[in-house]
Amino acid sequence: MTYQVLARKWRPKAFDQLVGQPHVVTALANALDTGRLHHAYLFTGTRGVGKTTLARILAKSINCETGVSSRPCGRCRACTEIDSGRFVDMLEVDAATNTKVDEMRELLDTAQYMPVSGRYKVYIIDEVHMLSRHAFNSMLKTLEEPPEHVKFILATTDPQRLPVTVLSRCLQFNLKSLPPQALAGHLKRVLDAEAIPYEEVALALLARAAAGSVRDSLSLADQAIAFGSGKVTAAQVADMLGAVGGELVWPLIEAIAAGDGAAALGEVERITQRGLSCDQALQDLAGILHRVAMAQHGAQLAQDEPDAGRIAALAARLDAGRVQVMYQVAVLGRRDLALAPDEVAGFGMAVMRMLSFGVASPADARPERAAQAPAMPSRPPAATPSATSDGGAPAPVEMAVREPARPAGPPSFEGDWAAFVERQNLTGMAGLLARYGELDAFEGNHLQLLVAEPHRMYAEKPYQDKLKAELAPRFGPGFRLTVRVGDTKGRSVAAVRGVEEQKKLEGAAAALESDPFVRDLVEGMGAQVIASSIRPAAEGPAGTNEKRSGKP
Ligand SMILES: Nc1ncnc2c1ncn2[C@@H]1O[C@H](COP(=O)(O)OP(=O)(O)OP(=O)(O)O)[C@@H](O)[C@H]1O
Ligand SMILES: [Mg+2]
Ligand SMILES: [Zn+2]
Repeated sequence: MTYQVLARKWRPKAFDQLVGQPHVVTALANALDTGRLHHAYLFTGTRGVGKTTLARILAKSINCETGVSSRPCGRCRACTEIDSGRFVDMLEVDAATNTKVDEMRELLDTAQYMPVSGRYKVYIIDEVHMLSRHAFNSMLKTLEEPPEHVKFILATTDPQRLPVTVLSRCLQFNLKSLPPQALAGHLKRVLDAEAIPYEEVALALLARAAAGSVRDSLSLADQAIAFGSGKVTAAQVADMLGAVGGELVWPLIEAIAAGDGAAALGEVERITQRGLSCDQALQDLAGILHRVAMAQHGAQLAQDEPDAGRIAALAARLDAGRVQVMYQVAVLGRRDLALAPDEVAGFGMAVMRMLSFGVASPADARPERAAQAPAMPSRPPAATPSATSDGGAPAPVEMAVREPARPAGPPSFEGDWAAFVERQNLTGMAGLLARYGELDAFEGNHLQLLVAEPHRMYAEKPYQDKLKAELAPRFGPGFRLTVRVGDTKGRSVAAVRGVEEQKKLEGAAAALESDPFVRDLVEGMGAQVIASSIRPAAEGPAGTNEKRSGKP
């Protein structure tokens, strides 16, 4: 007897055998049992969570010879043929390999003919986002006015790449990645049924490594069985996973946490040489960071997690805001891999970004904490090829993740505008106007600023609006702001600090704020670039620290 891989052997054949996805199963089952059929369905979700499986169960449900229902018999000719993929009226296409418009047209031409033996002709189009635009267009016509006897079931891991015209014609179901506990439970049932001995901790390890995918959990279990010659032990699984991934990224994350750029880039090289994909490495990093963040927010680490000690140590050592930023960098880095000159460059850039984004939490901004903060390189090491392939290193920057609402507190403005601005941490456009403006007058909570002619752009309305919004809560009720362009006396922060320095800062701020990555970060998680923390890239780490602790 040949060994059939677990993932195939254990493909659910009925709705009630599916792990997770209760929201999808319930909705589909209700629709089937009440005869409300749609002509096109779209299943979305990551790899191996049940899209193809559901498509086949749905195909059986509408073609079973005993009638349309959520409980296909599983024994009739239609059911058995669909299960084995031989049903003449079910056409499964992998769009990833059939992207051409001609193939699509040929396929859709067959839609006009009546089904041969079933009730409905079912078109299952997998990875539908891979179709070319022309192929989409030719499909659209059939999707718009499908013959009565045709049902479309589309599946994709990447719904964002589908044209809205297609999305709007489909009934969409989003399948979820499965939590590790659900995967471990499933593995337990499967191994019990297969009479394969195992240790529970081993299953927890496999479940976590599968990162939400049922198929991956079963494939890893297959490997573990082979690796452990018939039994699944924690030690062997840990060993095996170390070779697969997970374990490989630990030295990398340690190097990043220590701010050791050279070591981190060395790890990047080692990881890619060991054959771990960059995507997987970033995903593993994100996984670790997620657990670190959970630990920082008080989640109990499961006892059976072998890394619990290391996670707790990182949680204690890393600033919570920085963990958030690093996580975001890992996640966005994965998305951007496809756009990078090559994968290793993309991976390297993500790691360098993690190194360049230190986080100033409000507490860290206090000088005594700042002095203890781990020294971060102010820019990625110059010797790496990927530093230039991405259009230059990002300017060093500190990110603060702040509560959206600021404490309103009484205004601490006592007439010295420049000193006030230095204390306020005003960012972006508000910060620019604040720094270029000098005090003209302040009476009855009416602040009047004066901006010199060469900087008149900072007096424009959008800058005023931003500054007003920032200051209103600090100045309290009745606060008004007026900005006028005129002759200044050199008392603005910009003038006090020196025009040259300010110019450099502006350049850095503009580069930074237009960096799409930083924009994503800012928009995606409410991080803010603290203008006062931007340093032109020429300064070294020592300069950065001196500046910071030397500030009043
Ligand atoms: N929700 C689930 N419940 C039980 N088993 C599942 C589930 N999802 C996936 N599997 C297992 O994984 C295998 C592959 O699943 P399926 O082909 O449905 O994944 P998919 O979502 O279509 O993935 P891909 O995007 O890679 O095509 C199945 O044969 C089954 O063993
Ligand atoms: Mg599939
Ligand atoms: Zn049947």
